[in-house]
Amino acid sequence: MTSKSAAHIKMKNIPFNRVHLTGREIDAFKMALDAGQLSGGGDFTRKCHAWLRERTGATAALLTHSCTGALEMAALLAEIGPGDEVIMPSYTFVSTANAVVLRGAVPVFVDVRPDTINIDEKAIEAAITKRTKVILPVHYAGVSCAMDEILALAEAHQLIVIEDAAQGIGAAYRGKALGAIGHLGALSFHATKNIISGEGGALLVNDEKLDERAEIIREKGTDRSRFLRGEVDKYTWQDIGSSFLPSELIAAFLWSQLPETDAINAKRLRIWDRYHAAFAELEYAGRVKRPTIPQDCQHNAHIYYLLFDSLEAREGARRALGAAGISASAHYVPLHSAPAGRRFGRAHGRFDVTESVSDGLLRLPLYPDLSDEDQDRVIEVLTTFQKAS
Ligand SMILES: Cc1ncc(COP(=O)(O)O)c(C=O)c1O
Repeated sequence: MTSKSAAHIKMKNIPFNRVHLTGREIDAFKMALDAGQLSGGGDFTRKCHAWLRERTGATAALLTHSCTGALEMAALLAEIGPGDEVIMPSYTFVSTANAVVLRGAVPVFVDVRPDTINIDEKAIEAAITKRTKVILPVHYAGVSCAMDEILALAEAHQLIVIEDAAQGIGAAYRGKALGAIGHLGALSFHATKNIISGEGGALLVNDEKLDERAEIIREKGTDRSRFLRGEVDKYTWQDIGSSFLPSELIAAFLWSQLPETDAINAKRLRIWDRYHAAFAELEYAGRVKRPTIPQDCQHNAHIYYLLFDSLEAREGARRALGAAGISASAHYVPLHSAPAGRRFGRAHGRFDVTESVSDGLLRLPLYPDLSDEDQDRVIEVLTTFQKAS
């Protein structure tokens, strides 16, 4: 290697995320433009709905403008109301809790498991009160929560289960698609996810009694979906609702990606496996902890993270990567300790795992187009730093 090319490689930045395009996006946009229907509910939307239904086994799948919107729809469908309580992990994104607070209800935060960083199913029962209406598990990094245990608890206490499967497209638990295991599920197609449409999401309905109401809530509380299918000759206000649907352009973009879910996830899984093999030695030496994938979980390689034993250790590693032009990222600030979490929520029990994960977790660059060469650099910088520190 000449000194010039060595300098060049040293300078090259490796971002944390890079948007992956299949190459079909522009053609899909053109087809949507030629069809002349840009508002939601056209052919591309229908294709995405059919694909999601078939793939997940949901009774209905409805595109939304975001996973945030899908969670808000789920809260409406579950009839969460003032005073109700919804049990969720503290280690999650704000949208999980906002959907509940917007209905006047109380998010009840519990700790996560140290292995999967998912809600600790053993912590749920003690948090149940006579006000509890819903359990809201979040499948962190596309690795499923312990859904059998959670469904059993829900059945015993007659609770609804809403899955936050924002990160879960293409992943499964015992062969069942994430988002289609509980009563309702929410997916994200945000630009940072495995399958993208810029902003975007979907609600999965797994109880056909809710299918029709879901359609109405998504269309501003009207029966416009029935009108589009020619089932009624005009549409009217039927129920509460809002504008949760994306434009047809977004659906067209999504359709250029969705059928390639397995191929895109396979590329990510290959990169995930390479990281996992490369960091085994550091884990055996007690310097980091690698992710755990329980046997029941078929994950989608949404995130590769390492757990350090302190904030200082994590930040040291992040700085070393940063100095080499590599972006790595922490994740959630626990909701029970956030200003709005303290104001609107209730913290149940201890949060030892949540707090140590929030301090110690570092997400590494992972996207389908990450080259082996770039990934090797990430591995080398981290390994060298960890061995020296
Ligand atoms: C667990 C979780 N839930 C919900 C969301 C919200 O997704 P969206 O950006 O599609 O609204 C995210 C976003 O990253 C998330 O990580």
